[in-house]
Amino acid sequence: MKAIKYLYRVLCLFGAMAIFAACGKTVAVDNYAIIPQPVEMTMSSETFVFSSSTTCYVENVGQNDPSVKYILRQIRGWHFNPSIVGKLEGDCLHFLLNPDYDKVLGDEGYRLTVDKDGVLFQANTEKGLFYAFQTFTQMLPEDITDERYKSVTLTGCSIVDYPRFEWRGSHFDVSRHFFSVSEMKKHLDLMASYKLNKFHWHLTDDHGWRIESSNYTLLNDIGSWRVDRDNQPWGEADPAGEDEPRTNGGYYSKEQIAEIVAYAAERYIDVIPEIEIPGHCCAVLEAYPELACAGDDTTYTVQFGPYWPPRAILCGGNDSVMTFLKDVMDEIIPLFPYEYIHIGGDEAWKENWKRCPRCQARIKKLGLADEEALQSWMIREIENYVKRQQKNIIGWDEILDGGVSKDATVMSWQGVKGGIVAARHGNKVIMTPTDFCYFNFYQANPDYQPPAMPNSLVTLHKVYQFDPIPNGLNDYQKRFILGGQCNLWTEYINTNEMAEYMLLPRLCAMAEDLWSPTAAKNWESFRARVARHEQRLRILDYKVGTSSFQPWMTTAKRDDGKLTVTLNWEVEGSHIYWRTDDGSYQLYTQPFALPAGTTFHTVTFYQGRLRECQYDFVAR
Ligand code: ACM
Ligand code: ZN
Repeated sequence: MKAIKYLYRVLCLFGAMAIFAACGKTVAVDNYAIIPQPVEMTMSSETFVFSSSTTCYVENVGQNDPSVKYILRQIRGWHFNPSIVGKLEGDCLHFLLNPDYDKVLGDEGYRLTVDKDGVLFQANTEKGLFYAFQTFTQMLPEDITDERYKSVTLTGCSIVDYPRFEWRGSHFDVSRHFFSVSEMKKHLDLMASYKLNKFHWHLTDDHGWRIESSNYTLLNDIGSWRVDRDNQPWGEADPAGEDEPRTNGGYYSKEQIAEIVAYAAERYIDVIPEIEIPGHCCAVLEAYPELACAGDDTTYTVQFGPYWPPRAILCGGNDSVMTFLKDVMDEIIPLFPYEYIHIGGDEAWKENWKRCPRCQARIKKLGLADEEALQSWMIREIENYVKRQQKNIIGWDEILDGGVSKDATVMSWQGVKGGIVAARHGNKVIMTPTDFCYFNFYQANPDYQPPAMPNSLVTLHKVYQFDPIPNGLNDYQKRFILGGQCNLWTEYINTNEMAEYMLLPRLCAMAEDLWSPTAAKNWESFRARVARHEQRLRILDYKVGTSSFQPWMTTAKRDDGKLTVTLNWEVEGSHIYWRTDDGSYQLYTQPFALPAGTTFHTVTFYQGRLRECQYDFVAR
């Protein structure tokens, strides 16, 4: 009796599954929106139907290879469950690791072919296969993770793709505000889907030390915590009360660091930890005040608001500081397998060094020219130390002041000047100029945005104009530009939702700047594609900035004294409606005339939904 009941249940379950499958939607995709835009993509008239009967064949890669496991997990997330077959057959996703190196593709490139028999993913490396799969993911409907499609009919195409730059970075400041392990993983997922491959993790600063130290436990007990002012605007925080509990902050344990590094590696992302030397160190100096300059009687505290000028600096003349830094490196190095450690070097105010007898004695003893040379000496000492453990250093462009070793890599952030100087000297360079790459800057009119860095603006369009190769380098010098990255400083960003709002959709533009050849880039095409990505990202539960739906105004004087008002916006397919105070909304189709000083209002619709609140403009 029991057995019959069981059989009945199983039959019911299968019946329900069959009904469900029969009810699943079918969809055809004939227009792909891939970001970053591939090097070459040719469409064909064939089609392939991807469905639950589609199988997987992996050739020259083990079935238990992490890249294969990742791919299968993702496919199951779309509610398909392909069986792995032992030989090539029709209706198949075929993952082929090339037996002979295909020089066109290099280590990161891939070929992707969709035809009537299935999809062929080809690469020289697992990383290349991984990127081919990211592209394939973007060929599926935007809601593939939510909707249980019965089948997806894909239009045939042939893609050849490889990156323009080897360094495609994303920096995240977890000192100004702390972000959890799962938030970091969500960020790494985002990076992977846009083929970004370097995660620059800003772990220490004036506002908190975020990595476990076993040797210097006060870095965590004291340096990782501050008073909580997250409910007050940055810059308007009340002072800390005496003995007020430090409840805001945290740090990653060594196990958590290992977990994140492994998660990144599974997505072919290298992690670069940044430990700030010699400035941006309030968190260190509150924990270990003896590492400050002689005669400096400042009471340092972990900061919870703007800290400018950043006066805190580790003493350059104290041997204990060098011992401390080397000990910290000894703890950091085993946690991060990638070749680089970022040592900061930016914005170090050296007033204390000018007054400190120990710093001055070191300058004299070593015959250094000045305080810049003292910073340069400190950094070289640490560089030589980490080199003995097979690591190289990266520093912000201030490391050029006072001289830098040939092997240091320079991150050019104060414009492109530092990058040009460094490349001419034969140093490797990563370009991250504020004007294009700082995603903590406003992305649209500040009147309609959550607070961000004052007096700043980096629109999506501006990001899209970024080219890591600056003018003024010859072909030989250009080879030293490894690539570029976007930076997210989190003074004004205290939730992950806000971080995503600032990153997206600008990160999509950055990914295309760093991957796609200049000839394949096109703003009109990008803004149409990014609109579809915004939908995809929202479905994946990312918070996407809406400012690219926000129109902006330009005006021109007319002969009759009025102004011609032209509206423009970033997302292709948006519908903008406008009205004056006494008129009703009308669809914007062409520039219109208004007397100077007239107020008008706009709203934006995209695919039938209101995407932006009312914006008010004054024609002038
Ligand atoms: C920086 O933005 N201080 C590197
Ligand atoms: Zn000193």
